[in-house]
Amino acid sequence: MENSGVQIEPTKGKLGVLLVGLGAVSTTFVAGVAAIRKGLGEPFGSLTQMGTIRLGKRNENRVPRIADFVPLYGVDDIEFAAWDLFEDSAYAAAMKCGVLQEKLLEQLKPELENLRPFKAVFDRRYVKLLDGPHVKQGANKLELAGQVMDDIRRFKEEKQVESLVMIWCGSTEIFIEPSDVHQSLANLEAGLENNDVNIPSSMVYAYAALKLGIPFANGAPNLTVDIPAFAELAQENQVPLCGKDFKTGQTMMKTIIAPGLKARMLGLSGWFSTNILGNRDGEVLDDPESFKTKEESKLSVLEHILQPSLYPELYDDFYHKVRINYYPPRKDNKEGWDNIDIFGWLGYPMQIKIDFLCRDSILAAPLALDLVLFLDLARRSGMSGVQEWLSFYFKSPMTAPGLYPEHDLFIQLMKLKNTLRYLKGEDQITHLGLDYYE
Ligand SMILES: NC(=O)c1ccc[n+]([C@@H]2O[C@H](COP(=O)([O-])OP(=O)(O)OC[C@H]3O[C@@H](n4cnc5c(N)ncnc54)[C@H](O)[C@@H]3O)[C@@H](O)[C@H]2O)c1
Repeated sequence: MENSGVQIEPTKGKLGVLLVGLGAVSTTFVAGVAAIRKGLGEPFGSLTQMGTIRLGKRNENRVPRIADFVPLYGVDDIEFAAWDLFEDSAYAAAMKCGVLQEKLLEQLKPELENLRPFKAVFDRRYVKLLDGPHVKQGANKLELAGQVMDDIRRFKEEKQVESLVMIWCGSTEIFIEPSDVHQSLANLEAGLENNDVNIPSSMVYAYAALKLGIPFANGAPNLTVDIPAFAELAQENQVPLCGKDFKTGQTMMKTIIAPGLKARMLGLSGWFSTNILGNRDGEVLDDPESFKTKEESKLSVLEHILQPSLYPELYDDFYHKVRINYYPPRKDNKEGWDNIDIFGWLGYPMQIKIDFLCRDSILAAPLALDLVLFLDLARRSGMSGVQEWLSFYFKSPMTAPGLYPEHDLFIQLMKLKNTLRYLKGEDQITHLGLDYYE
């Protein structure tokens, strides 16, 4: 198929990044960007900053950096705004989160102190183990969304930003099933006005963003934009969106290893995953209702990668268990153990053990950076609705209705890069390669 590429609006001026939640992930993201600008650190873990993309045949030797191939804003062009229910500046919040060393944060103090959150749209009903004083008041949820839009307009004006992206880095909300109020934009707007209980705070922010034509990424497993009402609004305003739940730590490992087992047709009888972590995210996830949201997001991964319906002898019957234990001494430095029971030739059993001593926010921050840059690229390329090509970044990728999500990290990466090639009118890479031997 001839493809001459897509008209991509060039970047202009500055990109405003709207962070909902100014906790461990957000402050590590903001401080990281400030450190990179000052030459105090490198953007390891970020595909937009480190990655390359092969174009054409292997013998053409065309392998530009992604950032040179598609027009993205650079880290120097970003201005941040945030909302949180605690008044702390990004400096104070980062100090409390304890992810980055105090010595580094001291060097970034002026920039970080300048970022002070707007009052949050927050209701304890949706995050049971959290409470804070810095919260908006309003007659109903529609009015609260209006206040968020006012914050955004003021920020845009004050910082003179041209383009905007919102990313949810707030706490995990309780599990909410899609219901009537989520089915159409009209229902949602009526629900915002009558304070419908099935509209959590995250949907109020998402409504404000999409209404203003601002792309939205969801870093947590909450339902948030994964409802027909927002698909309708995204279509109406031509806005891209994506989610859910940053793919870091244990799930990232799972989506690296499971495709390998399947590739070699090795069977699985059980996968037990457990974690200890001691940050505020871990504390929130100690509430069974918030954990249920997370659990749903973590469990679906293996099912989709292993396809038991196609390989019943190998994967019909595996036992999958995921646990998160709040253990304060570990702070943000999570430890994740996996015990994987597999079987091979003639059914002989084997085991794999993984002990991943990771740092949650160090893994998540580069994903947040890539997501805001790519979502903004999507908007400037005229793409709207669910951005499945950004599945690479999520534990529980959003898809069009009726499609199963792609979880295999390597397929996700291929899809992402092929989308970039498509946008620029380059050939898709199929890895067929027969012509090298003709
Ligand atoms: N760190 C990771 O590796 C990772 C991976 C996947 C998903 N996540 C998700 O990302 C989110 C952020 O993680 P974190 O480690 O930064 O958590 P965190 O608890 O350190 O930060 C969340 C912040 O959001 C604020 N908040 C909660 N509800 C809010 C609201 N309605 N409006 C504004 N602010 C609100 C909290 O006060 C807190 O400061 C969590 O939902 C987490 O589950 C994190």
